[in-house]
Amino acid sequence: MKNKLLISIIFFSLLSVWAFAHGTEKHDDKEMKTVKIEAPKKIKEDATKEEVIKYEKKKKQYEVLQNKYKKINADYLKDIKPIFETKCFNCHSNTINYPFYYKIPGVKTMIDKDIKEAKTHIDFSKDFPFISHETPINDLKSLKKIALEGGMPPLRYIVAHWDSKLSEKDKKAMLIWTNNAIELLRKD
Ligand code: HEC
Repeated sequence: MKNKLLISIIFFSLLSVWAFAHGTEKHDDKEMKTVKIEAPKKIKEDATKEEVIKYEKKKKQYEVLQNKYKKINADYLKDIKPIFETKCFNCHSNTINYPFYYKIPGVKTMIDKDIKEAKTHIDFSKDFPFISHETPINDLKSLKKIALEGGMPPLRYIVAHWDSKLSEKDKKAMLIWTNNAIELLRKD
C-alpha cells in the first residue's frame, strides 16, 4: 500500500510537465502526396483513350502501394505488434488494461483524456496502415523518431508503472522495421 501511495505521489508530481513532453515534427509535403493515392474511381463506358490510359496508370500505382503496405504490415505483425500490444495498446487502441490508480479521483479523467488524445494521433487497432490523421510514411517517421529518441510511452506513465518502457531490443526492432518500410515506400 505504501508503494501505491508513493507511485501516486510521483504520478501527480509529474502532471505539471506533461504538456511539454512532446514536440511537433515537420512533415514532408512531397511524400505526403505520393502516399495519398486513393483507389481510382470506376471508369465510364464512354471514356476517351486518354482517360483509359490515365485510369490504368492510377490503378497500377494504387496496386503497387497496396502491395507495399501489405509487405510492411506482414513485418509489423511478426516483429512489432507484440511489442506494441504490451507497451502501446493501452492508449493507442481499443484494448485497454487500466492501471489500479485509474480509480483515484481525478486520475480517471486525465487518463481518459490522454487515451482520447493518443488515439486521435495514432490508433494501432487495425494494424498497418494505422488509423491516423497523418499519412502512413509520416507515421513511420514518428515511430522511427520514438525508436531513436524515446518519448513513448509518456514518461509520466512509465514512472507510474503502467506500461513498461521500450527496451533496447524493442527500439532496435522498431528502427529496422521503420527504416525498411520508409525505404520501400520511397522506392518507385
Ligand atoms: C499512457 C498512454 C500512452 C501510451 C502507453 C503510449 N502513448 Fe503514444 N501518445 C500518447 C498521447 C497522450 C499522445 C499525444 C500527445 C503526445 O504526443 O504526448 C501520443 C502520441 C503518440 C504518437 C504521435 C505523436 C508523436 O510523438 O509523433 C505516436 C507515433 C505514438 N504516440 C506512439 C506510441 C508508441 C509506439 C507507444 C508504445 C511504445 C505509445 N505511443 C505508448 C499516449 C500514450
